[in-house]
Amino acid sequence: MSPTLTDLCHYPIVQAPMAGGASCPQLAAAVSEAGGLGFLAAGYKTADGMYQEIKQVRGLTNQPFGVNLFMPQPEYADPAAVAVYGSQLAGEAAWYETQLGDPDGGRDDGFDAKLAILLDDPVPVVTFTFGCPGRDVLDSLARVGTLTGVTVTTPEEAQAAQWAGADAVCVQGIEAGGHQGTHRDNPEADGSGIGLIALITQVREAVQIPIIATGGLMRGGQLAAVLAAGADAGQFGTAFLVCPESGANLLHKQAMTNPLFVRTELTRAFSGRPARGLVNRFMREHGPYAPAAYPQIHHMTSTLRKAAAKAGDPQGMALWAGQGHRLARELPAGQLVEVLAAELAEAKDALGARGAA
Ligand SMILES: Cc1cc2nc3c(=O)[nH]c(=O)nc-3n(C[C@H](O)[C@H](O)[C@H](O)COP(=O)(O)O)c2cc1C
Repeated sequence: MSPTLTDLCHYPIVQAPMAGGASCPQLAAAVSEAGGLGFLAAGYKTADGMYQEIKQVRGLTNQPFGVNLFMPQPEYADPAAVAVYGSQLAGEAAWYETQLGDPDGGRDDGFDAKLAILLDDPVPVVTFTFGCPGRDVLDSLARVGTLTGVTVTTPEEAQAAQWAGADAVCVQGIEAGGHQGTHRDNPEADGSGIGLIALITQVREAVQIPIIATGGLMRGGQLAAVLAAGADAGQFGTAFLVCPESGANLLHKQAMTNPLFVRTELTRAFSGRPARGLVNRFMREHGPYAPAAYPQIHHMTSTLRKAAAKAGDPQGMALWAGQGHRLARELPAGQLVEVLAAELAEAKDALGARGAA
């Protein structure tokens, strides 16, 4: 029998790909070395930047790891809405003494060039976010021995991924930090996102391929819950973001457990696509009218976010975080994998004991 994604790691613990710097080679390698599955995020990187990171991981560990790609985005953003949002951000540019970025900074995230590298020099796992690739792409990766996964947020998206030939689905609940991997951003569906347990249960009954569950997971006990609900592994983002190996900005890491930031919300303010972050000034001020225009808004605000980080101002940064952020533990990544695995074993024992009572 050919291996499945969860055969690649000792523990059913996947470190979420986190574009923007957090899931760097050091983090991915430390997780894989400890018996989890580490991930690199190719999003926002050049194809060569992605390749350099792959080589770095290979230099740090012989264990399997994954690479996550953003799917190219369809042409649906309204240029007029992007321009209006640009004028609404003029005060931010003046405040941070910078210019807005060029909204037309690229729509496909270098997808073809990245895929060509991954076909030429294969990695164990490739997952896709913001859409589902065609069968040709998934088949070509299968032919070079790569296992594939697609992020889904509804049972319908999971069925599309299975039909296209994906080896697994990464089932992302509404609790998740960072972007929702919804295949098509639809403002009319705002507020209808599905919680992780409810979503796993529906996806489990809709498809037969393995499920990696993600969104709000911070403890091994929660991992036990998603495994019981039908998942094959759990994927942790925010939990690993605060690890010393993570490349996330220090202000971002510190904000996770800072009592000033108590709530998370989904917002289009930073990127033009719903993403969950700690509620800060930028989100409060611009979230209510930010248009659905990804990645145009991402490109436009990138200079603002960089300037805010440089100025040491978390109120202007995208502080992506899942709903469990207050449970973040600043442990070395390998140790966090061990702790999560021990908590999982404890939760299974406790359930067994209760079942026997
Ligand atoms: C900072 C950050 C960046 C992220 N970047 C990506 C990404 O590049 N690709 C992706 O598929 N998911 C990305 N995500 C979403 C994660 O894969 C995962 O769904 C999420 O972290 C799970 O929720 P949690 O943070 O509560 O664990 C990101 C999440 C965070 C927090």
